Amino acid sequence: MTSENKLSYCSFCNTHKDKVKKLIVGDDVAICSDCIELCTNLIEDENSVVESQSKEEEVKYDPSSIKEYLDVHVIGQDSAKTVLSVAIANHYKRITYPPKDLDIAKGNVLIIGPTGSGKTLLAKTVAKYLKVPFVVADATSLTEAGYVGDDVESMISMLVNAAGGDARLAERGIVFVDEIDKIARRSESTSITRDVSGEGVQQALLKLVEGTVCRIPAGGGRKHPGGDMLEVNTKNILFISGGAFVGLKDIIGNRKNGSTIGFGADIKDKKVEGDLTEVTPDDLTKYGMIPEFIGRFTTTVSIKELNKEELLRVLTEVKNNYIDQYKYLLSIDDIKLEFTDEALEQIVENCLTLKTGARGLHTEIERCLMPHMFNTKKYRENNVTEINITREQVLEPKLLI
Ligand SMILES: Nc1ncnc2c1ncn2[C@@H]1O[C@H](COP(=O)(O)OP(=O)(O)OP(=O)(O)O)[C@@H](O)[C@H]1O
Ligand SMILES: [Mg+2]
Repeated sequence: MTSENKLSYCSFCNTHKDKVKKLIVGDDVAICSDCIELCTNLIEDENSVVESQSKEEEVKYDPSSIKEYLDVHVIGQDSAKTVLSVAIANHYKRITYPPKDLDIAKGNVLIIGPTGSGKTLLAKTVAKYLKVPFVVADATSLTEAGYVGDDVESMISMLVNAAGGDARLAERGIVFVDEIDKIARRSESTSITRDVSGEGVQQALLKLVEGTVCRIPAGGGRKHPGGDMLEVNTKNILFISGGAFVGLKDIIGNRKNGSTIGFGADIKDKKVEGDLTEVTPDDLTKYGMIPEFIGRFTTTVSIKELNKEELLRVLTEVKNNYIDQYKYLLSIDDIKLEFTDEALEQIVENCLTLKTGARGLHTEIERCLMPHMFNTKKYRENNVTEINITREQVLEPKLLI
């Protein structure tokens, strides 16, 4: 075929120019209008997939959407949820759309607040929302490498396990380090003996939290010479630390109290309890955290003790609440479970005196239902199909038959 002849046909579908609407001819190729249309459609389809993907991401890393999700699962703690949502959105924006010539520092998160008020729950819920691998590690069980116990890199092994062995997926995950206050330095003076479980662990955590490549045994388990190793970069792993920091309020109070010396000596004598939302890095250093450690946790989230109304909502409103859980358990034995409003209030009252936060609700419900749950067989034999928990039953659980 001569070159002129060749250019009378579409190079893609080989149709003659007379049989198509238009044939666009280049130096040595030609394309017909039908093929152009096909290509345009293909490109448009692809664009719309990319667009819908990025729209989904936008929703995902938008703080108000994160907060909305948290609101369904975590009661109260409003300002903590706002601060946390912004920190999480920023972290995942940074690692999903890494800037080319700008270095955005990594910011880990520290959650401070009383026991049973939702620290672990907040972290767990955020991970669930983001659908990223998540593990809870206990700071008290960690030791420096070389000492008896789990070294800090074991947390990364756990995370890889949670990611089903996929190291790349684990590199976007969240590690929640619980009881971080328990690895505070014992005293402000440095001693000659090494503080293996406190300051030593804080030191060991520094590199990991900031971002380092760690080598962990492939397939989980402990390190052993000659075993296959897996490299995991921790630079995009988000570390959330949580601790009750008992006594921190006094440190904050003393600082604030001290600053008012000039206004009258008598104020200084009064014990002022500080507000956790006013915590400064200095207060945490006084508590026994080393400054380098605190410096790597740029967002501090303070949570409060749950009040009566909030505890009631934890009991009955929140998704997967304890009442629904026990209703379900008893329904397996064909028994209907009900609580009167007074009973619920009494449970909350008892819980407030226990000072164990929402954790106490679980203990209280278990206590109330124990005799009934033990005797479900007997109830069934006697045609008792409904348990109505009243205030009296909460004060003194009694068998119905
Ligand atoms: N704000 C909350 N909203 C709903 N449920 C809550 C809330 N706080 C606590 N709970 C319930 O109480 C349980 C204990 O909470 P969580 O483990 O988050 O406490 P924590 O603050 O981590 O306490 P600790 O300092 O003892 O580890 C959770 O499983 C959850 O069911
Ligand atoms: Mg916890």
